[in-house]
Amino acid sequence: MLSLPKTFMPDRKVVCIQGLGFVGAAMALAVANAKDAKGQPLYNVIGVDVPNEAGHRKVMSINNGEFPFENNDRKIQQAQKEAFVNGNIWAVADDRVFALADIVVVDINLDIKYGEKDEPILDLVLFKEAMRTLGSYIKEGTLVIVETTVPPGTCEKIVKPIIVNEFIRRGLNSDKVLIAHSYERVMPGENYFDSIVNFWRVYSGINKESADQCQTFLENVIRTDKYPLVRLQGTTSTEIAKVLENSYRAVNIAFMEEWGRFAEEIGVDLFEIIDAVRMRPTHSNMRQPGFGVGGYCLTKDPYFAPLAAKEIFKLDGMEFVFSTNAVRINNVMPLVSLNKIEKLLGNNLKGKNLLVLGVSYRQDVGDTRYSPTEIFVREALERGARVVCQDPLVSDWIEMNLPVLSKMPDFCGFDAIVFTVQHKEYLDIDFQKVDLDDGTLIFDANCVLEKEQRQAIKNRGRIILASIGR
Ligand SMILES: NC(=O)c1ccc[n+]([C@@H]2O[C@H](COP(=O)([O-])OP(=O)(O)OC[C@H]3O[C@@H](n4cnc5c(N)ncnc54)[C@H](O)[C@@H]3O)[C@@H](O)[C@H]2O)c1
Repeated sequence: MLSLPKTFMPDRKVVCIQGLGFVGAAMALAVANAKDAKGQPLYNVIGVDVPNEAGHRKVMSINNGEFPFENNDRKIQQAQKEAFVNGNIWAVADDRVFALADIVVVDINLDIKYGEKDEPILDLVLFKEAMRTLGSYIKEGTLVIVETTVPPGTCEKIVKPIIVNEFIRRGLNSDKVLIAHSYERVMPGENYFDSIVNFWRVYSGINKESADQCQTFLENVIRTDKYPLVRLQGTTSTEIAKVLENSYRAVNIAFMEEWGRFAEEIGVDLFEIIDAVRMRPTHSNMRQPGFGVGGYCLTKDPYFAPLAAKEIFKLDGMEFVFSTNAVRINNVMPLVSLNKIEKLLGNNLKGKNLLVLGVSYRQDVGDTRYSPTEIFVREALERGARVVCQDPLVSDWIEMNLPVLSKMPDFCGFDAIVFTVQHKEYLDIDFQKVDLDDGTLIFDANCVLEKEQRQAIKNRGRIILASIGR
C-alpha cells in the first residue's frame, strides 16, 4: 500500500485531482491553499497523472515545489510555494491513491477525433477507462466532482453507470456513489489562480447528497461570498451550461469574420465601429475580427452538443448549424490573414521571409495547443515561405517541432512581420526607431498594435501597414 507523506495531517480530508494539466495543476494549488477559519489548510491534496514521460514530469515538478507549466501569474507561484511549505500537496502517477480519497476532482482531457472527411468523432475510450479506474479504487461515499468539459449527458449516462457497475463488482453499496459536475472557467494567463478561486461557479449533482457535498467543497475553495455559486437541477444542465458558454463565444467570434473582410474591402475601420456598438449595454460583449480561435476548448467544445444529441441521446436532426459552422470558420481564419499577406507580397510566397510574432493560442499564455499560428505557419511553409517565429512565453513548440526565438530578432531582412498574438511585449516596440527595410509589410492580424504604433509605421512612409478588420 502507498504511504502518505508525513506532512499530511491525518485530520484533513484527502482530495485527489485526476489529471495535472493546465486545469488540474492549478486546481490542485487552489485546493491545497483552501484554509479553515484559523488559517490552517483544510485538505491534503494528491495530484494524479498517468505513468508516462509527460505525466512523470508534471508529478516531479509538483513534488519539487514547481508549477509544471510556464506562467506569469504571481499568485500561482505564491500558492505553489505555500503548499510546498505546508506540505499538504503531493503528486503521484499511481492510481492506487484513489483508494485514499474523500473527494476526487476529475480534470483529465476528453478529446474529439477527426474522421477522413474531417468530421468530428466523440472519443470516449480513455475517459471511460479513467472513470472505471475511479470506480475500481474509491471507497463508498467518495465524492467524484467532474470538472472536465464533457458532452451533455456524460455524468448520468456514462460516468454513473461505470462507477455503479464497479461498485457492484466490488460488492460495495452502489447507493453510496456520489457524483457532481462543476465545470472550470479557468483562464491561464495573468489571472490564472484568480480565475479559479475568485470566479463564479455553476454546479450540480446526480442526487441531493452529491450536490450538497459539492457545494461545501466549492465554498471551501472558492470565494463564494464574493462570487456566489449557482446550483442547477442536474448534471446534464451544468454540462450544457459549459458547452453553451463556449459555443456562444465561438459563434460570436466566427460571426465577425465576414464583417472584417467586408470592412477591409471597402476601406473602413471595423474596430472603431465595434467600439461604438459596444457602448450599447446589450452589445457590450461583441467580439472583433482577428487571427482565429485556438486553444483546447473553443476548438472542440461547440461539437459536444451535436455529438451528444446523436451519440448519447440518439436524437435525429439536431445539427447545431451555428456551432459547427463556427468551428469551421474559426479554423480557416488564419488562412484569411495568410491569403492577404500573399496578395500584398505580389501573389507569391515562394522564398519570402516571414517573421511571425506569437505562436501560443492567446495573449500572455505559453499554451500552443490548437494555436491558429500553427495553421498559418504550416500553410505558409507549404506555399514556399521561409518562416521565423518568436514568442516570449514559448520555448518548445511541440506541435510544430520548429525553433521559437524568445528574444525579438532584428526586423531587417524580412518581407513581412506578422503580429498574431496580443502579447504585452509587442506594445513596447517603438516603430519610430526600429530598423526596417524599405517595403517591409507589417501585418497586424489580431489587433495587436496600438494606435500610436500604427501611426508611427505610417509616418515612416516606405513601410506597408495592413491589418485584419481595418
Ligand atoms: N485549459 C483551459 O484553459 C481549460 C479551461 C476550462 C476548462 N478546460 C477543460 O478542462 C479539462 C482539462 O483541460 P486541460 O487543459 O487541463 O487538459 P490537459 O491536456 O492539459 O490535461 C489533462 C491531464 O490529464 C491527464 N490524464 C489523462 N488521463 C488521465 C488518467 N486516466 N489519470 C490521470 N491523469 C490523466 C493527462 O496526462 C494530462 O496531464 C478539459 O476538459 C478542458 O476542456 C480547460
